[in-house]
Amino acid sequence: MNDLRVLITGAAGGIGRCLHRALSGRYRLLRLADRAVATCLHPSEQALTGDFTEAAFAARAVADMDVLVHLAGMPKEAPWETILPDNIVATVNVFEAARAAGVQRIVFASSNHAIGFRAVEETVGIGEPVRPDSRYGVSKVFGEALARMYADKYGIDAAWLRIGSFRERPEDARQLATWISHRDMAALARCAIEAPPYGFAVVYGVSANRRARWTSPDAARLGYAPQDDAEEYAGELEMLRPAPRDPAARFHGGAYCAMEYARRDD
Ligand SMILES: NC(=O)c1ccc[n+]([C@@H]2O[C@H](COP(=O)([O-])OP(=O)(O)OC[C@H]3O[C@@H](n4cnc5c(N)ncnc54)[C@H](O)[C@@H]3O)[C@@H](O)[C@H]2O)c1
Repeated sequence: MNDLRVLITGAAGGIGRCLHRALSGRYRLLRLADRAVATCLHPSEQALTGDFTEAAFAARAVADMDVLVHLAGMPKEAPWETILPDNIVATVNVFEAARAAGVQRIVFASSNHAIGFRAVEETVGIGEPVRPDSRYGVSKVFGEALARMYADKYGIDAAWLRIGSFRERPEDARQLATWISHRDMAALARCAIEAPPYGFAVVYGVSANRRARWTSPDAARLGYAPQDDAEEYAGELEMLRPAPRDPAARFHGGAYCAMEYARRDD
């Protein structure tokens, strides 16, 4: 068993449950925090129920932890009334509590929607300016910036995981490029939690899809080597794509780019 004490926020959600199953029994302590109830599987686990928009709950959750994996939040586009508390205020509360508690590493569940308005023809790495495609994408850019500031100013290791499409299996043509399997998501999180000190790292959360258009030079440093490839589903999904002029087809962010799209100059 590894000597780490690890907190997963958003542990009752889809990715949280996947990580919980994969990491159960692996660490000295795995704390599972969410406003929904998370169930413990192993004696080395604790569940905590509360809301990260309350700073006091964030402080309770991070107490005595070595590593924070921050998944909690609204995982898709939503009105500001939801994005502001769950993705901005809660992230500030959790990261600030982590700093005050001496947490050594922050692993942040960011999203490909931070760069969603990049053209699909472009291969996107980690150095290009962000192009968020939604209020949700902007909130991920905020979380990335906050994590980076904690790395630069306070010396806390920080990783941005720019997750693609976490699904049992890819569901449309876009996801032939953006899919991350459950197995690869668990491996990526494990690498980000356990790798030797890395200062700062950015990795796209994507399987080894031959159509992937995101490059992650830091993946090797963290030891992330994805196993799955969406291509085996290509035959049945190829037809499930929007018309070529639709913003959903033209940009990396897919349907998020098409939502509320109101430009008249193209
Ligand atoms: N699923 C994907 O394909 C995908 C892709 C890119 C990024 N992400 C990011 O990964 C993270 C997890 O995504 P998911 O698909 O598991 O989402 P999910 O909605 O299944 O899980 C999110 C969990 O966070 C909890 N939560 C939300 N706000 C909270 C708050 N204020 N206090 C306490 N708990 C709160 C919810 O109760 C929920 O259980 C999210 O941050 C999401 O933006 C997911």
